[in-house]
Amino acid sequence: MKNKFSSVRRAFFLLIALLLSYSSMQNLTAQTVQMIEYPVPSREPGQTDVLQLACEPLDTVRIAFIGLGMRGKDAVERYMHIDGVKVTALCDVDFWKVDDCQKILTKNGRPKAARYTNAADWKEVCRREDVDLVYVCTHWQLHTPIAVYAMEHGKHVALEVPAALTVEDCWKLVNTAEKTRRHCMMLENCCYDFFEMATLNMAQKGFFGEVVHCEAAYIHDLRWLQFDEKDGYWDMWRLRYNTIHTGNPYPTHGLGPVCQILNIHRGDKMDYLVSMSTNQFGMSAYAKEKFGETHPNAKVNYKLGDMNTTLIHTAKGKTIMLQHDVTSPRPYNRIHMVSGTKAFAQKYPVTGIAMEPNAHHFVEKNILDSLLTTYEHPFAREIGQKAKEVGGHGGMDFIMDYRLIYCLRNGLPLDEDVYDAAEWSCIVELSEKSVLNGSVPVRIPDFTRGAWDKLKGLQFSK
Ligand SMILES: NC(=O)c1ccc[n+]([C@@H]2O[C@H](COP(=O)([O-])OP(=O)(O)OC[C@H]3O[C@@H](n4cnc5c(N)ncnc54)[C@H](O)[C@@H]3O)[C@@H](O)[C@H]2O)c1
Repeated sequence: MKNKFSSVRRAFFLLIALLLSYSSMQNLTAQTVQMIEYPVPSREPGQTDVLQLACEPLDTVRIAFIGLGMRGKDAVERYMHIDGVKVTALCDVDFWKVDDCQKILTKNGRPKAARYTNAADWKEVCRREDVDLVYVCTHWQLHTPIAVYAMEHGKHVALEVPAALTVEDCWKLVNTAEKTRRHCMMLENCCYDFFEMATLNMAQKGFFGEVVHCEAAYIHDLRWLQFDEKDGYWDMWRLRYNTIHTGNPYPTHGLGPVCQILNIHRGDKMDYLVSMSTNQFGMSAYAKEKFGETHPNAKVNYKLGDMNTTLIHTAKGKTIMLQHDVTSPRPYNRIHMVSGTKAFAQKYPVTGIAMEPNAHHFVEKNILDSLLTTYEHPFAREIGQKAKEVGGHGGMDFIMDYRLIYCLRNGLPLDEDVYDAAEWSCIVELSEKSVLNGSVPVRIPDFTRGAWDKLKGLQFSK
């Protein structure tokens, strides 16, 4: 009798235990699938979107360059090869960089520009009457403050990548552009690379069928630059950021071209993401090897995981896989992979195209070449040769600058708008948010506030 009673009791407790563990599993499941939402702020009365914004044509585009380090100096050089521009101001906290750029102007028979060398001078630059376009090539933290201030003072702005580091700053860019009706273009040069433009052209002409999935990345071993106090980044800004942040701090080079192919905010939108990072290994290993075990750099607890992988889901059910790694010793790679219902293309590590009915294998080299000629993008055809001669990442930088100035001079909408800048940059914060919360899904804000389906596909102004 006692035995029977205790076995009933055992069964009862087992059942309770099972129920408890089931309900805690349910809670866990509910917890892990909880989407982190980001509120979408409402527009102020009278404020409307700037999709296809066209502004007054400018006969000569008067440019102020702010930040004349590695990237800024190269930009000044490139603009010496573009008609209809005048450099009116040069600004950097390192006076010798300003002087070097003045020499570029002089060498090219251009008048000297106004010279600014104090940390807060960028405000005065943005207030100048003789500036139409403020071109920002500083470290990341100054991008949004300068862009907002420049637009508030009536200037168009072109800013290096990423345009912003937080969702709040992305909204500042969008709201300021909408209120001031000024252009705000993030200088995503990789959208103008030759293979990327050809695949965009292919996608727009239906070569891939329905594009279903894309993969993109920024994989670039930058350890030597990050840890070079003398000849690396100013004030080691990149290492400082990567010491205290994880996720994907530099998403736009890979993401921009595939968002164009997927018609993001021109018929589709990025809806949510999940993101996962490895632990950090490579920066510590590099610092130990370069400086020795006892050096302060070798003891830092760097936050940035070596490899970050982010998966993005779009409203129309497409996916993007996006990676970031600036730490591992491996070849440069932006992947740029486009997978559709009829064909496939990828740029890195081996460039290839595959298509029905033999899509198990890449096409032969001669067919690849002929496809790339057939689908050569009109920009490449128009200005590609000169771009290769001028240079700048093989020519793409020049095509980007050429198009920016062409559109400004002709009063046309720019190729990349403020919503692109916000959408591609917001991944910085959102990927970090997901990583720090066990890779939970995070909503990607709709920066167009409901107008993402208004434009039917991406069309560049002619
Ligand atoms: N699109 C691309 O292919 C590409 C390539 C490299 C860098 N970038 C971007 O370009 C930007 C600059 O990168 P970089 O490699 O030239 O770095 P860098 O450190 O060489 O240049 C930054 C410059 O900003 C200057 N600066 C700092 N504070 C300033 C202030 N208050 N006012 C004016 N100038 C100030 C510094 O003196 C320095 O010259 C970054 O945003 C980076 O992400 C883009």
